[in-house]
Amino acid sequence: MALYNRILWPAWPMIIFLWIWEAGCHTQYPAEEVEIFNSEKLDRLGWTSDPNTEWTEIWLRVGTQNPVHLLQACGRKVARTLLSQWMGRKQAHYLLMDIVFAQEEEPPGQLSSLRVHLFDTDTPITTFQNSWTVLELQTSKLFPATVTPSQISSYLNRSLALSLGSVSRRGFQLAFSYTGTCVFITSIRLYYRRCPDIMAHLASFGKTGAGSGPLTGSCVKGAVEVSPLVRECTVDGVWGPLQGECTCGPGYQLMDDTCQACRMGYYRPANDSAGCRLCPANTRTHREGSERCDCLQGFSRLPTDSHDLSCTSKTMNGFTGNQQVSSHYKSSLLKKRLKLLCEFENGH
Ligand SMILES: *[C@@H]1O[C@H](CO)[C@@H](O)[C@H](O)[C@H]1NC(C)=O
Ligand SMILES: *[C@@H]1O[C@H](CO)[C@@H](O)[C@H](O)[C@H]1NC(C)=O
Repeated sequence: MALYNRILWPAWPMIIFLWIWEAGCHTQYPAEEVEIFNSEKLDRLGWTSDPNTEWTEIWLRVGTQNPVHLLQACGRKVARTLLSQWMGRKQAHYLLMDIVFAQEEEPPGQLSSLRVHLFDTDTPITTFQNSWTVLELQTSKLFPATVTPSQISSYLNRSLALSLGSVSRRGFQLAFSYTGTCVFITSIRLYYRRCPDIMAHLASFGKTGAGSGPLTGSCVKGAVEVSPLVRECTVDGVWGPLQGECTCGPGYQLMDDTCQACRMGYYRPANDSAGCRLCPANTRTHREGSERCDCLQGFSRLPTDSHDLSCTSKTMNGFTGNQQVSSHYKSSLLKKRLKLLCEFENGH
């Protein structure tokens, strides 16, 4: 046992670190919710009841401090439907609903479900059409026929994030149907999840509705694409894994997951694995984010010189006029230059 502990002990800090790191990764870009409809924010819904007036809307204090907006179908035990107004889809691919409802007792085995229907439609429909049911809601705590308004709150079923399925047209309409004795709905909220703007690994993607399918991203400023960027916003509204790659372009270096322009007097060539480098002697840059350094006026490089070599004075016989170059540097440059001149003469 002691041995077991001794072996395991050093691993704990690492495990905790990994856990924090993992958690950080996932909470950095949590799903956002975009609300499309909220009955609690409206004074009147004005939805269409069929038959007329079988569904009604009233304000009632249901054991709450303030009166709540209540939709009810409590009359004849017939099929009665309630059709919402048309609502724009926005960026939604999948709709979610939060609902608060209560149902009255029925004889055993006869409890009806509150059916929910969804019409995915470009233009508004004016009457309920037979359509499949996307949800059947049933609560287990039914209120008795003798219930008083102040007691209703203890029978309310609050169901969150129920999936209404996918939508693809310009808009949609929601509908309820009920055949039981009495049902109350005190709150309806429709929304969708969204992946937020994300910028990671030099790739950025704009916010988009959950369940988007593959999307194309772009490299951040200063970065260039190595392979095409593709990422998917999952149905939960979180970003899936990144495909493709960006790298910092010439004149830029990687810093804190961004590409930073090399400062004046520094440069970085394309495909260089190192960061920005100081310009060689007698050269300068004309702007930030430079790929190479150009010779100062009066100095030059041989056509064969690579950009990481310094420039030398045009006077062939020495370094007159170049006060800044150290004697050590001068001699090394001189050797390089002499070597090149020899190569030229030898016909290389
Ligand atoms: C509330 O309603 C949902 C949806 O129909 C149902 O799944 C759940 O069991 C209900 N909860 C209770 C406590 O009745
Ligand atoms: C950098 O690398 C890419 C991919 O390997 C290549 O296409 C490009 O020509 C290179 N650029 C330079 C300046 O060498």
